[in-house]
Amino acid sequence: MKLKKPFQLGSLKLPSNIFCAPLAGCSDFPFRRMTTAYRPGLVYCEMVKMDALVRHDPHTYRLLAYEGEMHPIGAQLCGSKPDLAGPSARILEDLGFDVIDFNCGCPVDKVTKDGSGSGMLKNLDLIGEILTRMIHSVKIPVTIKIRAGWDESSIVGPQITKIAQQVGAAAVAVHGRTREQAYRGEAHWGWIRECKEAVPRMMIIGNGDLFDAEKVEKMFEATSCDAVLLSRGTFGSPWIIEDVYRRLSGEEPLVRTPLDYRNALLQHLEYVREYYPPRKAAMDLRRIGCWYLKRGQGTRKLREMINRSKTLEEINQLVRDYPWHETDFATALPFEQEV
Ligand SMILES: Cc1cc2nc3c(=O)[nH]c(=O)nc-3n(C[C@H](O)[C@H](O)[C@H](O)COP(=O)(O)O)c2cc1C
Repeated sequence: MKLKKPFQLGSLKLPSNIFCAPLAGCSDFPFRRMTTAYRPGLVYCEMVKMDALVRHDPHTYRLLAYEGEMHPIGAQLCGSKPDLAGPSARILEDLGFDVIDFNCGCPVDKVTKDGSGSGMLKNLDLIGEILTRMIHSVKIPVTIKIRAGWDESSIVGPQITKIAQQVGAAAVAVHGRTREQAYRGEAHWGWIRECKEAVPRMMIIGNGDLFDAEKVEKMFEATSCDAVLLSRGTFGSPWIIEDVYRRLSGEEPLVRTPLDYRNALLQHLEYVREYYPPRKAAMDLRRIGCWYLKRGQGTRKLREMINRSKTLEEINQLVRDYPWHETDFATALPFEQEV
């Protein structure tokens, strides 16, 4: 099973089975403008908390902002209170989302301490209950995103997949790491395959270490997953979606030049400028600039200068003036990020 265009997810027809993951603090409105230009099958917003959504917290609504071109678009809920599951799912449906995902993977202490995120991996009955309430409250497909287990001695992916199937979830996205691993080490794709084998008719979305098109092809082969979820691989290379489409369709890869990176960074900067107040925009660009530049040789000086910059205008000028012809992205290293 490989590239599918279109791809059926529950009642929904998606353009493909290549999806873009929820990424807290990263997959914001400007970021999604960059990735959706390459027409992924589905793009997710950053996770939002059920509590915050039902109390109509303005910041949470801002995280969920999107424009028409971003469809099909999913929102992701994080929480552990069954009473909030239905109402928060309904709010997302009313906001026009195409898919709702339930987060059972976030490893951060302040999220897991009340049993949310990957804390849910310790309470499978509660997963069933929350999913059921979401599914019964909305007409759109509900998916769940999990890690394989809390730690290596408690792998629960196959059990959760069975529960998801019983309660009527449309798909299970499996990140092949445990909570204990956080983002360290390699993702263990065998855990994804085990979920597919446990319930062959359940849609399994493979996730973990998809940093280029070749890896995506390998994941399809290694796990028999039905779709893939690109995460850090989209940082600084939104065209990875196109790369995947080309590879899985047997087309020649496109070579991305320093000019491509420069122009994408300037475009991303422009989107950030349009969306955020100046100070936040300049701070964000330090991180975003690093995504685009980290893959190239001869970009260190620019990265350092961006990190010292106080305004977007300054960063814009630095990027435009930089001698990009002296940089080399041909031997671009895979993206790695410390989280
Ligand atoms: C900065 C960052 C933020 C993330 N935020 C979310 C999130 O909001 N919801 C979620 O389900 N996973 C989140 N993840 C996990 C990713 O979606 C993905 O499962 C993980 O990075 C593994 O894929 P990768 O190895 O290809 O990056 C986040 C990961 C990173 C690095």
